[in-house]
Amino acid sequence: MATLHLLLLSNNLFFIFSLFFQARSSLSSINAILPLKVQSIPSRPLTKPPIKLSFHRNVSLTITLAVGSPPQPVTMVLDTGSELSWLHCKKAPTTPSTYDPLHSTSYTPVPCSSSICMTRTRDFTVPASCDPKKLCHATLSYADATSVDGNLAYDTFRFTDSNLPGVIFGCMDIDSSSNEDEDSVTTGLIGMNRGSLSFVTQMGYPKFSYCITGQDSTGVLMLGEFNYTWLRPLAYTPMVKISTPLPYFDRVAYTVQLEGIKVAGTVLPLPKSIYEPDHTGAGQTMIDSGTQFTFLLGPVYTALRNEFLKQTSNVLRVYEDPNFVFQGVMDLCYRVDRSRVGLPVLPNVSMMFRGAEMVVSGEILLVKVAGLTKGSDDVYCFTFGNSDLLGIEAYVIGHHHQQNMWMEFDLANNRVGFAEIRCDSASQKLGIDL
Ligand SMILES: *[C@@H]1O[C@H](CO)[C@@H](O)[C@H](O)[C@H]1NC(C)=O
Ligand SMILES: *[C@@H]1O[C@H](CO)[C@@H](O)[C@H](O)[C@H]1NC(C)=O
Ligand SMILES: *[C@@H]1O[C@H](CO)[C@@H](O)[C@H](O)[C@H]1NC(C)=O
Repeated sequence: MATLHLLLLSNNLFFIFSLFFQARSSLSSINAILPLKVQSIPSRPLTKPPIKLSFHRNVSLTITLAVGSPPQPVTMVLDTGSELSWLHCKKAPTTPSTYDPLHSTSYTPVPCSSSICMTRTRDFTVPASCDPKKLCHATLSYADATSVDGNLAYDTFRFTDSNLPGVIFGCMDIDSSSNEDEDSVTTGLIGMNRGSLSFVTQMGYPKFSYCITGQDSTGVLMLGEFNYTWLRPLAYTPMVKISTPLPYFDRVAYTVQLEGIKVAGTVLPLPKSIYEPDHTGAGQTMIDSGTQFTFLLGPVYTALRNEFLKQTSNVLRVYEDPNFVFQGVMDLCYRVDRSRVGLPVLPNVSMMFRGAEMVVSGEILLVKVAGLTKGSDDVYCFTFGNSDLLGIEAYVIGHHHQQNMWMEFDLANNRVGFAEIRCDSASQKLGIDL
């Protein structure tokens, strides 16, 4: 993780950019783009018309669009935790999942004489620099210590009927040996955080929303202002902003304030202050579509684990294997007889945000471990994990717990809204057949 500050001249306005990048592990599949509904927004001249499209959820959320002229199809991970969008760019045509800048007449690399390249770049491992062709060269670093190199560039992003020219992104050379699964299906990542260089900020969208279905593994993404009365009311929680930079606080994330966690009616017996960021910024709560599950700081995770264990002791059998920790971070797993239909009734887990409660209920509280069986049992694990084991100093609300939840990121009003909804029927109402 690193921070970068850039100055850019764009649309006759100066923007100070704060670039943030972090690693994502992701696998994904391709889904079709559906017709867009375009309406104009009178009050914001720089705002693009709203865009509506379907996307795919598997381990990551992905959207399919086209980039360049003529259009090249790309599949990008939708990541509310990242700023700079990037595409796998190889200088020569390679795999189908690679965007080829040489075959796009609208591809324009950012020259290193541009103000984008001239300011100090704390978010990249090393400041953006001049390559031998005098183009802006950037290095993005991942949390797993790998990094990718490439050029900052502009090209047209195409959503069926709506073309967005001049989108700034990183045209990156990815070492394909490092991440085969991701490389094989995903062309890149679309950065959706609040940083100035993110896709949503560049396009000036006042808000965006998404709704992820359960079983179908698809969803709908809406960029811009849509006003559907059937969607109301959403419960809103304010976004937390801090004015001073702190080492562990990501100021361009969608940060909200967690105030407690409930299992059925029982609030975990912890002080509210445990959910607040400390003087280093550690302990912020982020809504992150780039992370699959939800992670809690150690003491909170332990309290939740104990309470959930207690309340499920007569319906679920714990999988006792001290050496098994699902994905290295989830250590509460259960054995469930394969012949049983569905899971037993589980207690709801509610995340109590300031002003709004998000209820995680039913089968999404557990995830089946693929390929692991014990006798006649399947193994299921609790879908909350321990941030400490992940090596992060934050609470992260992942997309798994946002299923069948309308999620609205209201940038204009600095708040995040949500409501339980069947995303498949919401999509039907929107004219998108998932
Ligand atoms: C999800 O991704 C995994 C790993 O790539 C793949 O095996 C699985 O088929 C995918 N599921 C769907 C529904 O696409
Ligand atoms: C959306 O609908 C609400 C309720 O009908 C209304 O108050 C609000 O002004 C509308 N917003 C826009 C942007 O049309
Ligand atoms: C659990 O949450 C679901 C969804 O919010 C709700 O319909 C259900 O009534 C809750 N169950 C209990 C026991 O509170």
